[in-house]
Amino acid sequence: MKTPLTIAVDGTFASGKGTLSRRLAAHYGITHLDTGKLYRATARDCLAAGVALDDADAAAKIAGAIDPETLTDPGLKAGPVGQAASKVSVHPPVRAALLAFQRDFPAKVGGAVLDGRDIGTVVCPDAHAKIFVNADARVRAERRAMELQGYGEDVTVESVLADLRERDDRDMNRAIAPLKPACDAHLLDTSALSIDAATSRAIEIIDAVLAAKAPT
Ligand code: DC
Repeated sequence: MKTPLTIAVDGTFASGKGTLSRRLAAHYGITHLDTGKLYRATARDCLAAGVALDDADAAAKIAGAIDPETLTDPGLKAGPVGQAASKVSVHPPVRAALLAFQRDFPAKVGGAVLDGRDIGTVVCPDAHAKIFVNADARVRAERRAMELQGYGEDVTVESVLADLRERDDRDMNRAIAPLKPACDAHLLDTSALSIDAATSRAIEIIDAVLAAKAPT
């Protein structure tokens, strides 16, 4: 049986990977999974249950009980939940508890774009195409500050920049599944690109990769 189309999009916080992934999923007619939401939901439920974010086993139990139906909760987008998600995501048992759901997802839905931090390296190492998205830290902070201000959060570009540096540092330097491009990932710097331009570029890259892999 042919493997359903799987596209891995990894990247830094606020690099634009979420919007890009949604658009790629629509373009290729497949489903989008924002895997950050699984870590955010774990963090949300830890905070609600009073579980310490450094209690790996208790957090893993919560991760294993996440109901995918609750991933549309708008509360998951809040800045403090994102920071807490970055903290619970360093624990190997938490990552293990969330792995099978992500790995099985493309086959279950007939093809998917997964976005996250370790999709191309750990979750779907055999993805048909892999994109690694990044942008200048200040550009990302400006974008994210505008988004959070839109949700009514009292943040400045400087506060978001400090938060972003802390998150990048934790995500890139954790011992397990650190954020890094897979060796066969294609890098996409969105610092100077509109979302339309970034999407067109990503489609060009993916189409070229798929054409090169197609049987002749
Ligand atoms: O993409 P995001 O900002 O919603 O992700 C929140 C945190 O979850 C991020 O800082 C690190 C963690 N995460 C992860 O470790 N692996 C993933 N595949 C996705 C997110």
